Amino acid sequence: MNRSARSVASPRVVSIEDFRPLARRRLPKAVFDYLDGGAEGEFTLRENCRAFEDATFRARHAVATPHCDLRTRVLGFELALPFLLAPIGYSRIMHPDGEAAAARAAGAAGTAYILSTISGHRLEDVKAASSGPVFFQLYLLGGRAAAEAAIGRAQAAGFSALVLTIDTAVAGMRERDYRNGMKELLSGGLIEKAPFLFQVMTRPRWLINFWFDGGLPKLENVVIPGKGPMGLVDVNAALASSAVTWDDLRWIRGLWPGPIVIKGVLTGEDTRRAIDAGAAAIVVSNHGGRQLDYLPATLRALPEVVAAAKGQVEVLMDGGIRRGTDIVKAICLGARAVLCGRAYAYGLAAAGEAGVARAVEILRVDLERTLKLLGCPSIAKLDESYVDFARR
Ligand SMILES: Cc1cc2nc3c(=O)[nH]c(=O)nc-3n(C[C@H](O)[C@H](O)[C@H](O)COP(=O)(O)O)c2cc1C
Repeated sequence: MNRSARSVASPRVVSIEDFRPLARRRLPKAVFDYLDGGAEGEFTLRENCRAFEDATFRARHAVATPHCDLRTRVLGFELALPFLLAPIGYSRIMHPDGEAAAARAAGAAGTAYILSTISGHRLEDVKAASSGPVFFQLYLLGGRAAAEAAIGRAQAAGFSALVLTIDTAVAGMRERDYRNGMKELLSGGLIEKAPFLFQVMTRPRWLINFWFDGGLPKLENVVIPGKGPMGLVDVNAALASSAVTWDDLRWIRGLWPGPIVIKGVLTGEDTRRAIDAGAAAIVVSNHGGRQLDYLPATLRALPEVVAAAKGQVEVLMDGGIRRGTDIVKAICLGARAVLCGRAYAYGLAAAGEAGVARAVEILRVDLERTLKLLGCPSIAKLDESYVDFARR
């Protein structure tokens, strides 16, 4: 076991929550809060996790389950685990190995990784790092020509699906980022940065790694014709001018022959729109509580979406997943699989690839134990009869 793996081994890290203080200690405050925080008063951020407390189990005891089958199929791919790693922008700032490390750990565990458009590593390198399926999450940053180039590269590199995120008409109001000077740190000159630099100075290990990694990475997958890769600085402004609409889907469909996943669906109406637009799967998501505050917890939105989907598309879910029991509850309520965001990103920040691998392993062991305690032999056999969930 190498040093990074030892730093996140038991008893130091027993649950996903144990990564959080490690990430906080390693990252400058601005970076930790970017990862940890949500929009405005963070109601939705808290509620995503809290809603799992409203679902309790109906276990079947005295049932022998010597082997539990954790496999599921997503978009035709057999995954060893019923969770995928969600797209996390700026992963390379959390750890220099960033997106490549997360993709490698996902592949090694037999599951899929979703690469954000806001990636510091080239999409070709991220795909090459993983032995499993890798999906590309698309923002229309940099305009249609940049998106077309990224889609073409993703196809040539062998990405398996395109994930279109539809809940970012503008960036959410993440108050912590403003207070910490995230914008100034990313884009300001020395004078603007100065009041916020102490956060970075108090994390010398992070700073040295960041320095040796070449400092602020460019957005290698948002290449603007005639200008080259976009700088990180432009992202918030660029998001506001690149909102995606249902009309864009036809154009995207023409460019991408593979499956399209729509991420950010919370209602029956949007579910039907996604189906009509030709989606192969949808992700019930409120962007981890980072966009519109007072959206409902995703576990609450899930049953309406599952009912509207009528089995015509695969329904995935993300938001607030911190334990294997959370994953089981979402699957009982109709999700095919879930996406984990912060659960692995805290691990990435704490210990790079070893941290992601440890986070995945914690969730895997959780899942196996939960199925055995429930008296259910496989993920495929989970259904509503295993939970009590108060519908409102
Ligand atoms: C730091 C951070 C960056 C994110 N960046 C993106 C992104 O670039 N694209 C995207 O579609 N979703 C992004 N998300 C949302 C995640 O894909 C996912 O929906 C969310 O993290 C799920 O909630 P959870 O963190 O509670 O698991 C980001 C989330 C976090 C925490």
